[in-house]
Amino acid sequence: MNEQLNHENVQHAMQPEDTPELRALYKGFEEESLIPLWTQIGDLMPVHPKSQAVPHVWKWSKLLPLAERSGELVPVGRGGERRAIGLANPGLVPNAYVSPTLWAAIQYLGPRETAPEHRHSQNAFRFVVEGEGVWTVVNGDPVRMSRGDLLLTPGWHFHGHHNDTDHPMAWIDGLDIPFSQQMDVGFFEFGSDRVTDYATPNYSRGERLWCHPGLRPLSALDDTIASPIGAYRWEHTDDALTQQLLLEDEGQPATVELGHAAIRYVNPTTGGDVMPTIRCEFHRLRAGTQTAQRQEVGSTIFQVFEGRGSVVLNGDTRNLEKGDMFVAPSWIPWSLQAETQFDLFRFSDAPIMERLHFMRTRVEGQR
Ligand SMILES: [Fe+2]
Repeated sequence: MNEQLNHENVQHAMQPEDTPELRALYKGFEEESLIPLWTQIGDLMPVHPKSQAVPHVWKWSKLLPLAERSGELVPVGRGGERRAIGLANPGLVPNAYVSPTLWAAIQYLGPRETAPEHRHSQNAFRFVVEGEGVWTVVNGDPVRMSRGDLLLTPGWHFHGHHNDTDHPMAWIDGLDIPFSQQMDVGFFEFGSDRVTDYATPNYSRGERLWCHPGLRPLSALDDTIASPIGAYRWEHTDDALTQQLLLEDEGQPATVELGHAAIRYVNPTTGGDVMPTIRCEFHRLRAGTQTAQRQEVGSTIFQVFEGRGSVVLNGDTRNLEKGDMFVAPSWIPWSLQAETQFDLFRFSDAPIMERLHFMRTRVEGQR
């Protein structure tokens, strides 16, 4: 019943007659930098989230050649800092924001190149859909970047990247830049013009200390707001998903829905999200699986890691293949369909929405 009564169909309320006196009143508002609520309420308090961001798909087959061409034409170094090309949501231009809270970019580093060290308040991660040969040095700890790995650079950690090979490498970056800009929380500082450690170990010091399942070092009992793990390796992600589907085959509860295995990357000190503003997950669908339609407060971005399928995004079906990325803005319905086994990396601003108690979720078929 109340659904029927909203700002859109109650047109008669508070619409005063257009008179010279009313125009003078509105001119008085304008001169004193005032705007009355009654002319704005439909935008300020919508019945449900109505993002200016739009659902959108970026094709890897278009992104990668443009990144490669940037590698030929644009040097990397101090000032520009990174050869990163932002995915600009068409609803949010001229900003290079993929959503109102999140930034996503393809970054490209040529053979033997170094991206200089810096640090900033913004939280960042990298996900590698293909390639290897780059180490990211985070607070002095060299972290190998390889296919399928999630690499973290939490806020205010120094970081630079260097390519130790004779071939280029591309990956995606995710950051909370739009949120930080809207909230005016950003600080930035230059570090070394090179990276501080050119060693190329297979495993970072953080992984050697922390990455033993269920085991916490007694030297590190204080919880940290961001995960102390610099790299979440593909071998672990892959095995976790494989085991969920095998358990499902055995009739055991393991998957989120039939044919849909999924994991969340977590901070081992808290069991919570890897960083205070960004949630990261990985999803695997069996061939032929279709997920339930979901709507969530906040924005989410997916990248296909392997396989073929499609997303139904606000009613439109879009085919997806390796490397393709899409954004679902707040409350836009989405569901996934797997043609082959379908592996997808996902990130979102859910930690912000949950901590501030704005989160709502609607799943088709559930109350
Ligand atoms: Fe950075």
